[in-house]
Amino acid sequence: MCGITVRVGDGNAVPELLDGLENLEYRGYDSAGIALQNDVGIDVIKREGTLDSLRNAIDDDSLHGTIGIGHTRWSTHGPPTDENAHPHTDCTGEIAVVHNGIIENYQELREELEADGHTFTSETDTEVVPHLIESKRNAGLSPESAFRTAVERLAGSYAIAAIVDGTDAVFATRHGSPLVLGRGADRYFLASDIPAFLQHTDQVVYLEDGDIARVEPEGYTITDLQGNVVKRNIEVVDWDAEDVGKGGYDHYMLKEIHEQPTALRQAVRGRVDSFSGDVDLESAPPGTFSDIDRVHLVAMGTSWHAAMYIQSLLTENGVDAGAYMAGEYATSPPPAGPNTLVLAVSQSGETADTLSAVRSIQGANVQTVAVTNVVGSTITRECDSSIFIRAGPEIGVAATKTFSSQVVTLSILAERIVRDVTGTSIRNTSGFFEALSTVPGDVQQLLDDSNAEAIAEHFLDSKSYFFIGRNTCYPVALEGALKFKEITYEHAEGFAASELKHGPLALVTDETPVFAIFSGDEDDTKTLNNVKEVQARDAPVVAVGSNSSQEAIGQADYSLEIPETHPAISGVLANVQLQLVAYHAANKLDRAIDKPRNLAKSVTVE
Ligand code: AGP
Repeated sequence: MCGITVRVGDGNAVPELLDGLENLEYRGYDSAGIALQNDVGIDVIKREGTLDSLRNAIDDDSLHGTIGIGHTRWSTHGPPTDENAHPHTDCTGEIAVVHNGIIENYQELREELEADGHTFTSETDTEVVPHLIESKRNAGLSPESAFRTAVERLAGSYAIAAIVDGTDAVFATRHGSPLVLGRGADRYFLASDIPAFLQHTDQVVYLEDGDIARVEPEGYTITDLQGNVVKRNIEVVDWDAEDVGKGGYDHYMLKEIHEQPTALRQAVRGRVDSFSGDVDLESAPPGTFSDIDRVHLVAMGTSWHAAMYIQSLLTENGVDAGAYMAGEYATSPPPAGPNTLVLAVSQSGETADTLSAVRSIQGANVQTVAVTNVVGSTITRECDSSIFIRAGPEIGVAATKTFSSQVVTLSILAERIVRDVTGTSIRNTSGFFEALSTVPGDVQQLLDDSNAEAIAEHFLDSKSYFFIGRNTCYPVALEGALKFKEITYEHAEGFAASELKHGPLALVTDETPVFAIFSGDEDDTKTLNNVKEVQARDAPVVAVGSNSSQEAIGQADYSLEIPETHPAISGVLANVQLQLVAYHAANKLDRAIDKPRNLAKSVTVE
């Protein structure tokens, strides 16, 4: 949930550490700090608040060092204060540590260290690490051995980087939290995610759980916990620094909304052959799923909504499928066995709830497939195989392009599963393939013609915002409400259209606009009845649909139109309109759109 960055090499590390933290701020932004190893010792500076308050506190002239560690925080243990901000140090100030994750046994370690005379200055779990290293140093161990033996005492999830005064090196390790190494021309980087150092190098080494990295100006070594050297490949990422810039847009979220035509083209490329009517998915050739009799989709947040979308698509085409909130799945996994396919859907590939859901079912000998946006992410290592949504880096905390790319990639996967399991294809296959190949252009047309800003303006002072839909449009209603909540902080809820009269209708008034999503198939008739129910309570209705839903659009008070397409894909288009409504409402309310309060991009703790 936090962002770690490390820089080792010639020249002053401060500017590159701060730029790295800026590119990681989507991971947490309630406090930040850096520590530098220099000829006078270790300098630590940290501040509560966003990165700007740290930048303002840094006196560029005095603070310098060629080796440094940095951290931007999303609080789990102890509120965002200067004391609880990272880096944390030991009693002497000669050891500084940054950490992402949760150390579950920190209480007992802290009591043990305090009993040994160590003095703690924060409420964090992290602070036990520098004190542990200190106690090993006091026992005469070398900095590297002290780091290694300290790490052996830790339980939980962590990515850690440490500097020890007098040692021209950074020691780092990971267990359950992401950490990647960047090999520059004359310097080295470590970070929670690639955007931290992408403007310096595209050469990346993905560290594995249990790896211990020693990074020095001359180079790096990676060993296991026993000290044996391990080989890790250097991979070149096909992203460039421009990908992680705002590209002239006011916000990453708006840039990423407008990147959807390109992202969807990449998601479909080489995977759909509308002429032969076949799909070609890496790691899922025909027959891959012929022994499967049920599909469990596990995910959280927006990814769960994408999973629900595909659950509808699979079940209506004859495959037994369930979309489970990963956190709940992990606590009580449903029955599963060798004929169960578990699809773990996670854009970051690092969401702790989804990782533990996969781990909770491993014993049942199920087949697991990761559907993710990040090559080399932890989920790709926990699952038997991976399918990538190819959306490119997504910096805005509110997921946008990755939802569309997840639904389209999962739809192609669904076609493969339906064929292997039922021997048939998704209903109206030719229209479905057509829709998959035209969805990038449809989104572009929608972006060019959208009236979402006017709708957002019109309803800005509403009391609450409700979203309704049926079948694949139900998860789109949930997603529309989630986007609205996340970035406007206004009360918004998504409901299955059929659910309204069983309770939520009590919330509906003339101050609660209802966004009704239409797929253009027979479900529309029933959703239209629900529209009349809320209109009978004076609620203004905004219909989101295409020409195929003309009657519905005619009945509604306002409309957000989408190009006509296959009912299985219209939800993707409708969702883009809802992304825009949320964006414009948040912009008019002057919200911190890319870094909404209390949230973070990838949630690496349960
Ligand atoms: C969505 O806008 C949020 N950022 C959040 O709900 C997110 O979808 C969820 O945390 C899952 O993240 P993942 O796809 O990286 O696993």
